[in-house]
Amino acid sequence: MTSYITKKSGKYWPSKAMKDIAWVKDSKIYKEADKNPIKFWSELAKQGLVWEKLWKPENTYVQKIPYFWWFKQGKINFCVNALDRHLDKPSKPALIWVPEPTNEKTVILTYAGLYEKVNRFANTLKQLGVKKQEIVSIYLPLIPEALIAMLACTRIGAIHSVVFSAFAPDALKTRIIDGNAKILITADGYYRRGKKENLLKKAKKAIKGTKIKKVIVVPRFNKKKHYFGKYLNFYDILNKTPSYCKPEIMNSEDPLFILYTSGTTGKPKGIVHDTGGYATQAYWTTKWNFNLHEDDIIWCTADIGWVTGHTYAFYGPLLNGATTLIYEGTPDFPNPSRWWKIIDKFKVTSFYTAPTAIRMFMRFGDKWVNKHKLNSLRILATVGEPIDQNAWNWYLKKIGKSRCPIIDTWWQTETGGTLINVLPGIGPFIPTIAGKSFPGTRHIILNKAGKKVSKGFLAQVSPFAPGMLHGVWKNHKKYVETYWKTFKTKYDTSDGAIMKNNLFRITGRTDDVMKVAGHRLATAELENVINTHKFVNESAVVPIPDKIKGQTPIAFVVLKGKNKNPEKIEKKLKSHVDKHLGPTSRPSRIYLVNALPKTRSGKIMRRILKSLLNNEEAQGLMTLVNPDCVEEIKNLVSQDIINKNAKKTNN
Ligand code: WTA
Repeated sequence: MTSYITKKSGKYWPSKAMKDIAWVKDSKIYKEADKNPIKFWSELAKQGLVWEKLWKPENTYVQKIPYFWWFKQGKINFCVNALDRHLDKPSKPALIWVPEPTNEKTVILTYAGLYEKVNRFANTLKQLGVKKQEIVSIYLPLIPEALIAMLACTRIGAIHSVVFSAFAPDALKTRIIDGNAKILITADGYYRRGKKENLLKKAKKAIKGTKIKKVIVVPRFNKKKHYFGKYLNFYDILNKTPSYCKPEIMNSEDPLFILYTSGTTGKPKGIVHDTGGYATQAYWTTKWNFNLHEDDIIWCTADIGWVTGHTYAFYGPLLNGATTLIYEGTPDFPNPSRWWKIIDKFKVTSFYTAPTAIRMFMRFGDKWVNKHKLNSLRILATVGEPIDQNAWNWYLKKIGKSRCPIIDTWWQTETGGTLINVLPGIGPFIPTIAGKSFPGTRHIILNKAGKKVSKGFLAQVSPFAPGMLHGVWKNHKKYVETYWKTFKTKYDTSDGAIMKNNLFRITGRTDDVMKVAGHRLATAELENVINTHKFVNESAVVPIPDKIKGQTPIAFVVLKGKNKNPEKIEKKLKSHVDKHLGPTSRPSRIYLVNALPKTRSGKIMRRILKSLLNNEEAQGLMTLVNPDCVEEIKNLVSQDIINKNAKKTNN
């Protein structure tokens, strides 16, 4: 069995077999790229993509902080790059979709098949009046039509805004309104743990009070169903439109998509990604991180509601002309062998998932993995949160069978593509270490005063990477305040980092953003929703460590009236969160308290709540107006059995 790694002085490095197939194997590339990153990316953009017209040399990189543009006014169509240019291999699978019900057939879309569907759907959107640079909302689960819909938007130069299908109607509604979308693409539902989830019901609720004129429904369950009025069956119209749609030629700097993400404040931000820069980073990071060759099959387990799904389940693999695999359902249904079975059956070569999933499988026990060969795998990768040594070792031994490197990739919704990781042909692969800035990008660690240090805040330095965001949708102020206020000329990542032997170790968020099972969630976002419940006076949310999810939110709530039936109220508040944000955001515990610790200026001291939850001595009580409440909360927390158990497992 070929091994792609070798152990030298206690560390893993690429083996000869890895070096033999690696796109990048000489670490000189870092120095070379850093000499002139603009030239480096300019060459990669030309090599990796087809352009209708190249940009003028002086427009390769234009910077007016806080904005910057790559390949300005270069002419390009994204869909042509993802599809048209691969039509020389028409019967090659572009997408493999594994549905949840085991008796349902796998769907394979070839490049030619996908091309036809995307063209037809692009014409559909045009017929419905979608204009260039208009936003189209997409509320779909992981099904092939999601890819068709997204690519169709890019073909006609519309901007897609995908909303995670597990989000509640309110979350979809605010995103539709912010983007002023007139068209919503959704589905009648999807399978999850053997149950039919009704997505259309949620979509119907969400569009009330928005400007949505048409809702296109993908018939996941009821193929032949005819819809009326505002509602249309995806295939009814698709089958009637012409099979060719001329691609709209866009400027490199035109927005390709927006994707909402959580920041420190309650309202999610619409992160804007452009066309040419994003495509360049998506293409090259996919190729080099996963060492993707044309015949490879890549499986990124992320949902398309998240940026990882956009870039590595769909766009990066297609730009490279590879085959991408997606699946419906959950990792452990009908049993925890599901993922490993899929890898063996379809001979997946690169596998990309989150540490939270790995920790979940560790808990299920090795027997679910041991019976699978997993010998098609060459590269394993992770994303979403720091991966601890235990999970890393398990991933290496049990999934990689001690033969595959683990690429720990650090990046964000805002960066469009990965930015800090080691490359498989270069290494070293060290648990808890993400690695180096991707060739042609630069990061440093700063203290609060902006001085370079080896432990502190992670920032990105000019020239900013091509895949970086191009603002917050309709909110210049938010863009400046979030990313450019702290270090002025450097991009503030809001992550902490440590530099050791010239490699970055990412320590996690430094702001009020949690990562719950890899999902990004702001404490304020959750508080805002809890506060809208009629019983609630105010609330504070803090994350605590969780063995599987990484972090989990705990809420402290002050009610308007008396805490008569705490258990019942806790249940009610949890379902209130489910209803307005979605179950992924549900706090694992809600404490009803008489008061929240506050400073004299009225600021809620979440830091104190965090200490109490971690059974640590709370510092800074002197600054509180109401130190008495700390004792009450302390008692409540220490009495709590669930919390005690959580602490036990975390030790
Ligand atoms: C965290 C996900 C440590 C980080 C692509 C970042 C990570 C946030 C890693 C962005 C990693 C992502 N190691 N932390 N390899 N990858 N993060 O926007 O805190 O959902 O700021 O994008 O995830 O989350 P987002």
